[in-house]
Amino acid sequence: MSRLFGLIGFPLTHSFSKKYFTRKFLEEGINDTSYELFEMEAAAGFPSLFKENADLVGINVTIPHKKAVIPLLTRLDQSASRVGAVNVIRKEPDGSLTGFNSDYIGFLRSLQNWAGDEIVGAKALVLGTGGAASAVKVALEDLKIEFLQVSRSAGNGVITYEGLKKEPGIIEQRRLIINTTPLGTYPDIGKCPDIGFDQIGAGHLLYDLVYNPAETLFMKKGLQNGAKVKNGYDMLVLQAERAWEIWNQK
Ligand SMILES: NC(=O)c1ccc[n+]([C@@H]2O[C@H](COP(=O)([O-])OP(=O)(O)OC[C@H]3O[C@@H](n4cnc5c(N)ncnc54)[C@H](OP(=O)(O)O)[C@@H]3O)[C@@H](O)[C@H]2O)c1
Repeated sequence: MSRLFGLIGFPLTHSFSKKYFTRKFLEEGINDTSYELFEMEAAAGFPSLFKENADLVGINVTIPHKKAVIPLLTRLDQSASRVGAVNVIRKEPDGSLTGFNSDYIGFLRSLQNWAGDEIVGAKALVLGTGGAASAVKVALEDLKIEFLQVSRSAGNGVITYEGLKKEPGIIEQRRLIINTTPLGTYPDIGKCPDIGFDQIGAGHLLYDLVYNPAETLFMKKGLQNGAKVKNGYDMLVLQAERAWEIWNQK
């Protein structure tokens, strides 16, 4: 029986997932399986996709629907309830729909592969407070890495960029700095979070969730100061592979 997978989101002009899965099916000889884009402005339209496409067994969810799909699902896996967002949906044999989050595990595995023991005992700064930051926070909790969030606006448990620059000791003490803001994404490649890079040194690990361009301004500034840097590409691949595992679990 043929199997269809897909992606919902809006807009869907540049989809990594379609390219990634189409190539994977071809290279790994996974037959009778395809991956389609379902661009939709409102998440409310997604359950009817499963009614209209009997062979649709799993979908990825991207911006802006990662939270909006939640009330339309039958149940949430723990990964999704902890993060508070869904990026993978699986149709169960009885037709019910389960929501998962694979961004969380994609980030966790990519951080471990990259930094290894260097993150043991480290403290972190998480730049941004959006959906990707929620997945990063759950991964850091699991890794027992204490973190402080940085936001443009002051609030509970967060520090502002101005506050960060006024207290240089904070950057000194927090060796792992994760950019979860979209700043620096193509075509706005001349932007990056304003963290006062003069405090960054050889002991710092700068992880940018942005993957286009491959070397962002955030990474360039880190490198200039001797830090170790990483972009978000591995996270993207690992979240896609986790989605594939989820869809194929019996
Ligand atoms: N590599 C991967 O696998 C992967 C996975 C998911 C997401 N991402 C990337 O992560 C980025 C964020 O995604 P998201 O879903 O979390 O987006 P989002 O929900 O829109 O949140 C981004 C956060 O960044 C901050 N921000 C937004 N614009 C800013 C600006 N002009 N200056 C400073 N801060 C700004 C905001 O936090 P404050 O309002 O608190 O400042 C906002 O909550 C995107 O670039 C996305 O492509 C990558």
